[in-house]
Amino acid sequence: MNPDQLILALDVSDANEALAWVRRCHDKIACFKIGLQLFTAQGPDFVREVRKTGAKVFLDLKLHDIPNTVAKAVESVCRLDIQFLTIHTLGGHDMMEAAVRAVSLSAPQTTLLGITVLTSHNNDDLDDLGFDHTTTGQSLLLAKLAKSAGLRGLVCSPQEVALLRKELGADFTLVTPGVRPVGAAVNDQSRVATPAEALANGSSHLVIGRPILHAPDPEAALESILRE
Ligand code: C5P
Repeated sequence: MNPDQLILALDVSDANEALAWVRRCHDKIACFKIGLQLFTAQGPDFVREVRKTGAKVFLDLKLHDIPNTVAKAVESVCRLDIQFLTIHTLGGHDMMEAAVRAVSLSAPQTTLLGITVLTSHNNDDLDDLGFDHTTTGQSLLLAKLAKSAGLRGLVCSPQEVALLRKELGADFTLVTPGVRPVGAAVNDQSRVATPAEALANGSSHLVIGRPILHAPDPEAALESILRE
């Protein structure tokens, strides 16, 4: 695996601990994911700290609001010089289009990624929310809407990635969490695949957290993922 394809999820609240992970893994991993836990605790200054180390940042804010508000938030976030930023495709065509326009004007090097159906949702949850589709059907529908709004990347489960790759084409960025090396604990993820399976099915990038952060020997865990 190319080290650019692996993203470490910095799922901790403490800035020093997160920076220590960046310094410890940066020679093997190019990009680090800052999610809501860390961003709400540490704010934009922390993103600047990570950028100072030379590491790339995936800012997983899952933006979802009216088009103008999302476009303005995207504009602000793009000043932080990040590699990936997430928005919810459920915000609709116009919201996604406004976000795409904001990125192309302020930071064309940033790739916007659409979130389709959260992997914590199953078919019953979608039914409760009034959707007629299965999780797979709904993901496909939202993926096509995202493409029509100008998005060129999505976050998806490793089990949907083959279908989405076929539907969206070779140059779409497909980022998959829920990746577990052979023998690693599944934790709260339900639809998982190994790194090799996810890449073979069409993932362009893998997001991995606990299999490295919670490993007894994180360096060895990282090496074995890269080898796999
Ligand atoms: O520890 P683990 O490898 O399960 O971490 C996966 C990361 O990917 C977490 O930061 C989680 O929030 C994120 N994620 C996910 N499923 C999604 C979107 C993001 O697990 N659909």
